[in-house]
Amino acid sequence: MSMGKLFERCSVLENEAVAQDVYSITLTSPMVAAALEPGQFVHLHLNNNDSEILRLPFSVYDVVPELGAIVILYQVLGNGTRHMTRLQMGDICDVIGPIGRGWFPPKNCSRALLVGGGLGTAPLYLLAKQLKDQGAIVDVVMGAGCSSRVICRDTMAAFDSLHIATDDGSEGFKGFCTSLSKDLLALNDYDYVATCGPEPMQRIVAAQCKDAGVPCQVSMERLMACGVGACLSCVLKTTAGLKRCCVDGPVFDAMEVIWDAK
Ligand SMILES: Cc1cc2nc3c(=O)[nH]c(=O)nc-3n(C[C@H](O)[C@H](O)[C@H](O)COP(=O)(O)OP(=O)(O)OC[C@H]3O[C@@H](n4cnc5c(N)ncnc54)[C@H](O)[C@@H]3O)c2cc1C
Ligand code: FES
Repeated sequence: MSMGKLFERCSVLENEAVAQDVYSITLTSPMVAAALEPGQFVHLHLNNNDSEILRLPFSVYDVVPELGAIVILYQVLGNGTRHMTRLQMGDICDVIGPIGRGWFPPKNCSRALLVGGGLGTAPLYLLAKQLKDQGAIVDVVMGAGCSSRVICRDTMAAFDSLHIATDDGSEGFKGFCTSLSKDLLALNDYDYVATCGPEPMQRIVAAQCKDAGVPCQVSMERLMACGVGACLSCVLKTTAGLKRCCVDGPVFDAMEVIWDAK
């Protein structure tokens, strides 16, 4: 059960490259680690980057209860994430979290399909573990540009099936992961699909699920300023009006999202 947002100073336990332009950072954050639900995110302030006022939003990939730690997988994109790669063991930063509404799979889910594109695979891992613990069959589809950008290969292999697609065919199926999700939806009876990744990819998965009559949840990314529902920088058009990605999401029922809106 959610305990509301917590503010926590944390120290870096590990920060290392795990794929091309992708790092894994482990932070001690016992209160956030204990309160977090799959699909929620944290707002991170880097104490080695005072030029940035805004925090950076990151989904939590994994929790290490015995260390009271959270693990984030992040792609190096701009100034903030470049600074983040320089954090070393023992450095201090702070987090606000857990934020937002995470995944809300149906009770008694019997078979789930999780579809991740790029870094969008990260917030699906805790969900996969939760569904597996509850007895569901969990099939995972992951897409990446090329083999050196594939993440979570080893951890996601622990579930019932893992299907990898790369744009250039350097690993697994050559093409988009949406081809694999289409085939799997035709082959198996799913009662839940969760997807996270580039918006065009999520939109295709949502349409495939609509055609197949399977409930689908999407995790939407928007640029975020406050992360607490106050600034409206992260709004998303939905069938129920404008919603804030940070506190009403990031996870939404796919049928609720108005995809044409920008
Ligand atoms: C709820 C949520 C969860 C996220 N989880 C993860 C995660 O698990 N791993 C991860 O690597 N990234 C994640 N992101 C994206 C991450 O927050 C941004 O990549 C990061 O803030 C970029 O910071 P920067 O200063 O390095 O880049 P900037 O200089 O701010 O931006 C570099 C480029 O990235 C684009 N960009 C920045 N933020 C976003 C965003 N939110 N959505 C789309 N494009 C963006 C900018 O437009 C620009 O083109 C998440 C974002 C949200 C909203
Ligand atoms: S980031 Fe300010 S309302 Fe969502």
